[in-house]
Amino acid sequence: MANNLLAGKKGIIFGALDEHSIAWKIAERCVEEGAQITLTNAPVAMRFGKIQELGEKLNAEIIPADATSMEDLENLIDKSVEILGGKLDFVLHSIGMSLNVRKKREYTNINYDWMHKTFDISAISFHRLMQTLYQKDVINEYGSILGLTYIAAQRTFPDYNEMAESKSLLESFARSFGYHFGIRNKVRVNTVSQSPTMTTAGSGVKGFSEFFNYADKMSPLGNASAEACADYCVTLFSDLTRSVTMQNLYHDGGFSNMGMSPALLEGGE
Ligand SMILES: NC(=O)c1ccc[n+]([C@@H]2O[C@H](COP(=O)([O-])OP(=O)(O)OC[C@H]3O[C@@H](n4cnc5c(N)ncnc54)[C@H](O)[C@@H]3O)[C@@H](O)[C@H]2O)c1
Repeated sequence: MANNLLAGKKGIIFGALDEHSIAWKIAERCVEEGAQITLTNAPVAMRFGKIQELGEKLNAEIIPADATSMEDLENLIDKSVEILGGKLDFVLHSIGMSLNVRKKREYTNINYDWMHKTFDISAISFHRLMQTLYQKDVINEYGSILGLTYIAAQRTFPDYNEMAESKSLLESFARSFGYHFGIRNKVRVNTVSQSPTMTTAGSGVKGFSEFFNYADKMSPLGNASAEACADYCVTLFSDLTRSVTMQNLYHDGGFSNMGMSPALLEGGE
């Protein structure tokens, strides 16, 4: 159901690869709520993903950008402001990739060149993005910047590997930059800590489908879906949450506050 919560707002959505991507659902919901957006993803995703399809459906221009390249980010932001016809109201960072996970290196046998690259793609890109937006001063007052994260930043999930530290760093950047953006422009910066979700990035983690079912049983509301995440992000981009900033917000069906669930004991429902 659309409520025009984002009527007149302009934003950039990173990370829609295919229809399973969380960013794909968020982009659809933002437009349904009246926003005008540009879409972006890494140049390689233009070949392997389906972003063109989404662009046509949402009447949104696609501007390729490698989130680790300052030049690409500057070009993306300049073009978005030009295409959308003014300053931005919201930006979604929905990017995650681990080289050690992809190449099946165990946490106790890390390749450090790959770890650097993982941090750059999955976390430092958030700082790069915010710094570029800040220096160009292209976010309207009470604008909203969101990054997607996972609870492995706070608790140990062994198969999440170096992505755990990536997410800790990402969340810390949200707090630190949230201060600077808040003081100068009243811009909000938050991270949304989402349930396990069946996407390309998610299913790259070892044992993902077993873990997905575990988390579903552990959460009183069950795993939060990508569609529900999109609804939540819309509220965080809207004017209804203007005093929420520098927070890591769990969107996980209650998982983060559970200790034990009878549903996981043998024979439990
Ligand atoms: N799927 C889950 O279980 C889950 C849970 C919590 C949080 N998240 C987070 O949600 C976000 C989105 O992931 P998803 O699950 O929708 O998977 P996804 O694979 O659909 O999205 C990840 C995106 O990152 C993009 N990307 C990778 N390298 C990039 C680069 N150098 N520059 C620009 N973009 C790049 C990919 O092209 C892809 O679109 C990630 O931050 C992920 O960690 C996912």
